[in-house]
Amino acid sequence: MSAHIGDFGRPHGTVPPRAALHTDAPSIDLSGAWRFRLSPTATGLDEFWAEGYDDSGWDALPVPSSWPMHGYGQPAYTNITYPFPVDPPHVPTENPTGDHRRVIEVPADWAGQRVLLRFEGVDSYGRVWVNGAEVGATQGSRLTHEFDVTAHLRAGEANVVAVRVHQWSAGSYLEDQDMWWLPGIFRAVTLEVRPSGGIDDVFVHAGFADGRGTLRVDAPDGALLSVPSLGLRDVAVNTDHVLDRVEPWTPETPTLYEAAVSTGAETVSLRIGFRTVAVVDGLLTANGQRIFFRGVNRHEFHPDLGRVVPLDAVRAELELMKTHHVNAIRTSHYPPDAALLDLCDELGFWVVVENDFETHGFEQNGWRNNPTDDPRWTDALVDRMRRTVQRDKNHPSVVMWSLGNEAGVGRNLASMAAVARELDPDRPLHYEGDRSNAHTDVHSRMYATPDEVAEIGAAPDGLPFVLCEYAHAMGNGPGLLSTYRELFERYPRCQGGFIWEWLDHGIRRGNHFAYGGDFGEPVHDGNFVIDGLVFPDRTPSPGLTELGAIFAPVRLVPDGDALTVRNGYDHRDLTGVTLDWTVAVDGTTVAAGSQAAPDLAPGQSAPLPALHADVPAGRGEAWLTVTARLAGATVGAGQVRLRSAADRPRRSGRRLVGDTLGPAVFRGGDLVALGGLALRGPRLDVWRAPIDNDVFGPDPVADRWRKAGLHRLTHRVVDAADGADGYVVTSRVAPAGSDRALLATYTWTADDDAVTLALHVEPTGDWDVPLPRAGVSMAIPGRLGAVEWFGGGPGEAYVDSSVAALVGRYESTVDALQTPYVRPQENGNRTKVRQASFTDPTGAGLELIGHPTFELTARRWSTAELTSARHTDDLRPGRDVHLHLDYGHHGLGTAACGPPPAPEAWLHAEPFDLVVTLRAR
Ligand code: GAL
Repeated sequence: MSAHIGDFGRPHGTVPPRAALHTDAPSIDLSGAWRFRLSPTATGLDEFWAEGYDDSGWDALPVPSSWPMHGYGQPAYTNITYPFPVDPPHVPTENPTGDHRRVIEVPADWAGQRVLLRFEGVDSYGRVWVNGAEVGATQGSRLTHEFDVTAHLRAGEANVVAVRVHQWSAGSYLEDQDMWWLPGIFRAVTLEVRPSGGIDDVFVHAGFADGRGTLRVDAPDGALLSVPSLGLRDVAVNTDHVLDRVEPWTPETPTLYEAAVSTGAETVSLRIGFRTVAVVDGLLTANGQRIFFRGVNRHEFHPDLGRVVPLDAVRAELELMKTHHVNAIRTSHYPPDAALLDLCDELGFWVVVENDFETHGFEQNGWRNNPTDDPRWTDALVDRMRRTVQRDKNHPSVVMWSLGNEAGVGRNLASMAAVARELDPDRPLHYEGDRSNAHTDVHSRMYATPDEVAEIGAAPDGLPFVLCEYAHAMGNGPGLLSTYRELFERYPRCQGGFIWEWLDHGIRRGNHFAYGGDFGEPVHDGNFVIDGLVFPDRTPSPGLTELGAIFAPVRLVPDGDALTVRNGYDHRDLTGVTLDWTVAVDGTTVAAGSQAAPDLAPGQSAPLPALHADVPAGRGEAWLTVTARLAGATVGAGQVRLRSAADRPRRSGRRLVGDTLGPAVFRGGDLVALGGLALRGPRLDVWRAPIDNDVFGPDPVADRWRKAGLHRLTHRVVDAADGADGYVVTSRVAPAGSDRALLATYTWTADDDAVTLALHVEPTGDWDVPLPRAGVSMAIPGRLGAVEWFGGGPGEAYVDSSVAALVGRYESTVDALQTPYVRPQENGNRTKVRQASFTDPTGAGLELIGHPTFELTARRWSTAELTSARHTDDLRPGRDVHLHLDYGHHGLGTAACGPPPAPEAWLHAEPFDLVVTLRAR
């Protein structure tokens, strides 16, 4: 066999694509154990498809599956680079090839009926035989292919279905998406009867305009349509209906109407949602209203199963999106499992369905021979677009088609756009890769900076604008979410966007999640595949919590010493929303209540009527916190400070006696004990384990930090002397080889049971880099594992990702403060901490009091250990708890792919002060 597998990407032998339908036609699900054999090449293999072939020595493999997840070969990850030579349409002779065989009994009553064999996902090329006869081949891994197997199937008997799957084919050139390369039959395989006089295809056109629904269902002539709840019973298909009593479909009001299309031979069940999508006066609208995408990009991936995502996991992740106020999904970068779109209709999401098409690796070769501009590939590309539209055309959730992702430009874009428009004139087209917008209805960019977005928004005219990718959620981050939200709210044409991306694609291996390079791939892109809002097992990361707070529809915004409530829903009022409030003093609740939200239309705001009892007299810091709830779910939260804290008393009055100052013992200028508690530090520290946003991107700030030696500062105590202001230790902190330094002055004061450190730091020399963090680090005994604090929480927060953090009193443990980023990095900061304590099981330990606040991290390993770890299980608890008490942190930004932190979130090397009281308790 030649190494040219797949004829410029065209499948063959398939019947015309049609809608995914729920039908009562008989079918057989071919999921389950198949016989399987993996060969390292595509050539020289035997005729395993023959009926009498003896496969008894083969293994059993589940279908659907990605075979490397079951021990056959290895996963491999590349972002842009093709993992084979760019030599289109050829692929290497070393081409992992999986032969699959399955014997199926076909019921006797299927005799004489037309039968289709359907594959919903085969990566990347599947040749198919039934009872020894070749019926065709799939190509287009995430697209549905059906074969008419009537002539080869024997009803009432055992039949052999054989599929040879090659990992690499010509089609692989069209599938260079940034993800694991994972071959296999990874979606459903079904045998389905197509009854004579049945319904092969249906196209629902359900619009909503001027308060009324419009409906036409295209189906074979003679079929009858029923939508009982709208009073339609057995009416003719292919006719237009205008319906008065219809509720429009939106993600906030996903009203669906059960419908059926029947002939005597077959009934197809549908769920119809009424909405009209159109570009009107430069805005993308649904039912005449501006669409606002609070979206995520979603890949299909599972940490144990690869491309196979069980339906319960899909439902759970969509529900998780809903509880975090995500209202849109871009199916990056291929059509999803068909069941996803049923769930999107039901739960309510705007969906951009993307064609299975990306050729990004041609960019590394000057875009030479890019299939996008090569007529030899036109058929395959048009076929892909056609399959995409045909399968998913009936979903109200689907509001745009996307031609593909990062495939450069060329004449085949026009052909693809033409077929999409011809099949479905009612949905606008998206494609980011062609800035001319020659074939699209919206202007799309990825990772545009806030300034660029503002410029686009302010331009006098143009197309609707979406960020098909922004806020790269790799590792700790993204920052900047509230900046982008403001832009989407300020400029009508900036209609939101889709976070990159929903899920970390880590592969579970032992006690950690693996990423690129962990499988010995010669070419790979490391942890760039770990860039989601949820961890590989779909537990939320702090980035998702922040996103949920940013996009919460009920906005509670401080205005003086009161709160204003804003209805941030697009399509509904606040009926049913309750506002639960508390007044807390120093984190302890002193009054609470609940009331209905005011009656506000979408976009309207009103001051909240006085909710709270008077704040009791006293000195404590008082906050009003309001949580908006709808049907048990949190739909907004906000806070306003009712009274500032009185200055917390600082300790003074003791003088140094020997090396003892009140309860504190110093050695060489360092605090080593406090009231019997052994300590090390606190000492100036500016290093953080770089986050992915520090490490990746065109000009990684972490490279500049390392060049500046910020991870290897040395300390020289210049002076340590008791004086009128206290015990003053001055220190010059600098890296080897540089004359640049941080001059630290530690002023210690004490009384009977506490010491206060007032640290002042002055940079000297030429500082052309920001600091990763600015503060002190110290070590305390590991038994002090219980943590309690008054400050921002409950979760991790950083300067440009802190909307979700509310001021309160929280309890946790050192272990639970950690965020297990798949590639270990700085994490777990608690922001604006006023007071914290670390205690052992008897309640003894250390209390820290900020003047006024500090940033706090605590972990059972050092920052150096965190910096060098590659996987979570490289981190082993040591004897101490390592604390960082910081004045500040450099922002998170989203520079791994996109802009660095906003200017106000930079931590410049400038003088700073940090004042903290330490008390043993
Ligand atoms: C985009 C691309 C995505 C992903 C992202 C970086 O360029 O469309 O597929 O690679 O960058 O994570």
